Amino acid sequence: MTAGAEIANLHKSYGLRGRAVPVLTGLDFVQRDGITVVLGPSGCGKTTLLRIVAGMEAPDDGVVRVRGDGRTGMVFQEPRLMPWLSAAQNVAFGQRRRRCESAGLLALVGLAGFEDALPHQLSGGMRHRVALARALANGPSLVLADEPFAALDQDTREDMQDLLLDVQRTTGMNVLLVTHSLDEALYLGDRIVVLDGGRIAADHSSPRNAGPRTREPDRRLAELIRATLQRKHS
Ligand SMILES: Nc1ncnc2c1ncn2[C@@H]1O[C@H](COP(=O)(O)OP(=O)(O)OP(=O)(O)O)[C@@H](O)[C@H]1O
Ligand SMILES: [Mg+2]
Repeated sequence: MTAGAEIANLHKSYGLRGRAVPVLTGLDFVQRDGITVVLGPSGCGKTTLLRIVAGMEAPDDGVVRVRGDGRTGMVFQEPRLMPWLSAAQNVAFGQRRRRCESAGLLALVGLAGFEDALPHQLSGGMRHRVALARALANGPSLVLADEPFAALDQDTREDMQDLLLDVQRTTGMNVLLVTHSLDEALYLGDRIVVLDGGRIAADHSSPRNAGPRTREPDRRLAELIRATLQRKHS
């Protein structure tokens, strides 16, 4: 069964000084296979949407279902590692994993030999790799990622994007990834949905897989998405 979010007529408001401030206002979305990127400006509700899909937040109204086998991994903007646990122990945290399995996951993200390192002994990029390995620990069919690379410098960010693409291709997992970077959306997304005004304002299939992967964005698609974002904010 294809893993992914299935959302109909999702509403979510937050209370602010006694008033309800609407964030999601009747959002409809059905995830397909591959990497789906949710793109949108700061404050448009991307994290709220992801938290609702993850079951960390309750919707006010609407239907939110996650298809698949229930094995879901999460990656956040910050690595959120336990500082007193080693890299391998962080990967295994909350799982019935043996050390050798954690080591295998660390090797998958390029951290072979760092099993015993504590988070403070790792660079920022390496800590993000541990966080990705932890998200992969239960063999997820769906990974939810909230701006997972936003805090990284450009080179590390590009390395992590390539790593995610490799892992996704190897494992076949589906990914729902939130970002406000158009370049990141164009590079990673098989599908790019623009969230604005509490709904999906645009929905594009990306030709990312049509030819050899390149960091040269598809100009026509980039213009189309830029126009959507500007139209909403002019
Ligand atoms: N727990 C909360 N209580 C009150 N308001 C909230 C809460 N969480 C989010 N909001 C409000 O909901 C709106 C959407 O927030 P959200 O974090 O989903 O945006 P975002 O698209 O992820 O933004 P960013 O790109 O800056 O991370 C914002 O106006 C925010 O202030
Ligand atoms: Mg956010």
